[in-house]
Amino acid sequence: MATSHDVLVIGGGPGGYVAAIKAAQYGLNVGCIEMEKVLGGTCLRIGCIPSKGLLESTERLHQAQNEFADHGINVSSVKVDLAKMHARKDKTVGELARGIDELFRRSKITRYLGVGRFLSPSKVTVVGTGEEIQAKHVIIATGSKSATLPGIELDGERVGTSTEALNYPEVPKEMIVIGAGAIGLELGSVWQRLGAKVTVLEYLDRILPEMDDEIAASALRIFTKQGIIFKLGSRVTSAKKDGRRAIVTCDGAPPMSADRVLVSVGRTPNTEGLGLEVIGIETDKRGRIPTNEHFQTTVPGVYAIGDVIAGPMLAHKAEDEGAAVAEFIATGYGHVNYMAIPSVVYTSPEIASVGFTEKQLQEKEIPFKKGKFPFIANGRAKVLGDTSGMVKVLAHAETDRLLGVHIINNRAGDLIAEATAAIEFAATAEDVARTTHAHPTLPEAIKEAAMAVHNQAIHM
Ligand code: NAI
Repeated sequence: MATSHDVLVIGGGPGGYVAAIKAAQYGLNVGCIEMEKVLGGTCLRIGCIPSKGLLESTERLHQAQNEFADHGINVSSVKVDLAKMHARKDKTVGELARGIDELFRRSKITRYLGVGRFLSPSKVTVVGTGEEIQAKHVIIATGSKSATLPGIELDGERVGTSTEALNYPEVPKEMIVIGAGAIGLELGSVWQRLGAKVTVLEYLDRILPEMDDEIAASALRIFTKQGIIFKLGSRVTSAKKDGRRAIVTCDGAPPMSADRVLVSVGRTPNTEGLGLEVIGIETDKRGRIPTNEHFQTTVPGVYAIGDVIAGPMLAHKAEDEGAAVAEFIATGYGHVNYMAIPSVVYTSPEIASVGFTEKQLQEKEIPFKKGKFPFIANGRAKVLGDTSGMVKVLAHAETDRLLGVHIINNRAGDLIAEATAAIEFAATAEDVARTTHAHPTLPEAIKEAAMAVHNQAIHM
C-alpha cells in the first residue's frame, strides 16, 4: 500500500532533518528516508561532531603536556588511552543521534530506512524494502561524499578518507595528508598532537583556499611552528597501499611513504541512485543539482538543499536551507542570506570567517577599509595564555557597512557569531565599535578591530 505525505525528505543529515522538523512545525505530514540507521548525516556520524570530539581531547593532551606547567600545575606523566578517546567521541555521537530520533518522534515524522529512488516527481520508492511513498513535495538532501583523484587507490586502511582518519586504532608514526583544506588540517592536527609526524601535500601555494589570504598565511606559520610539515605546490598523482605502508607520488618529487594517508581533496554531491534521470533532473559539471533561490529544481514539486546544491558544503548552510525550504513550501516565503554564513576551521587556533575576503572585494571592485586588532593586546587572551592571532574587519569605504570579518584565535568559531549577527543586521563598523563589550573578554578584539577601521582602536 502506498503511503503518502505532504513533504518527503530524502536524507536525514543536518539539511534533511531540519527541513523535516521545520515542515512538521508548520503542521505538514512529513516522511524522511535515510539509508543509515543513525540520523544526523555525515556531520554527526563521520564529520563535524566526531572530529570535534578528537580535536577537543587532543587539545587537552597538548595543554597537559605543554601548558599546565606555566600555570604551576605539574603533571607527572600524561598517558593517552586512544581506545577511551575514541569511545568518548562515539558516545557523544550516539547521544546526539538519539536526540534527533526523539525530535522526529515528537514531531511525528515517519522514518523510512533505505535508499530513496524517484519513480516519478511525486513518488519515491525505498530500495530494499520496496515501499512506495507518494508526496506533494520532495526535498533532496542527500549530502556529499569524500572526493578522490585519479591515481589514488582508497583501500580503507592505509589510504583512506576522513571516515578512516576518525578511527585509526593506533597513532601513525608518519601520516600524509593530501589537501590543506578544513578536513586535512583538522584531522592532521589531531594525529600530530597525538605524536604522528604529519606532512601535508597541497597543490596550491597556500593553505585553506577559501579563507582570507592574510589569515591563511598566519595560520600556515602557526601550524608549521606546531610541527606540521607543509609541502605547498605539490600535485599528488598517486597514492596506494604498499604492504603495511602507503606510497604517495607528486609531480617532480621522489615518492614518499607513510603509515597512513588521508585524502582530503574536497567532497562531491551524492546523487547516484536517486533516479534523477527518471524525473528529468540534470546535474551540473560538478555533479550538483541546479536550483533557484527557493530551492526548486527544474521539476515542479522537487526541491534540493545542502551539499547537493551550489554553495559552501557546510552543515549550518544546509540546516538554514532546510528551514527555508520548509518555510517556502508551507508559506510561500523562505530565504537564506548567503552573505552571512560563517565558516570555521576547528584547528588550534581556530580560523573563522564571514562575508567577503579582501581578495573578493578587490575582484568585485568594492571600496573597503580595513581594521585589525591582534589578540596580544587583549587582556583576556593574555590571561588565557593564548595571544596568537587577530581579528580583521572589512567595511565599505563609503557606507561603513560590514563586508567581512576574519578571525584567527582558539575561540574564533564562537567569536564569529557576533560578526555574523552584525552582518545579518546590516551593521556598520561604527555600530560594532559603539556596542559595549564585557571586559575582559575575547570579543573586545572584534570591537577594537571595528574601531581600527577608523584608526580609533584604544589598545593599539
Ligand atoms: P577543500 O576543498 O576544503 O580542500 C581541498 C584541498 O585539496 C584544496 O586546497 C586543493 O587545492 C587540494 N588538492 C586538490 N587536488 C590536489 C592534489 N592532486 N594534490 C594536492 N592537493 C590537492 O576540501 P576538504 O578539506 O576535503 O573539505 C571538503 C568540504 O567539507 C569543504 O567544502 C569544507 O568546507 C567542508 N568541511 C568543512 C569543515 C569545517 O567547516 N570545519 C570541516 C570539514 C569539512
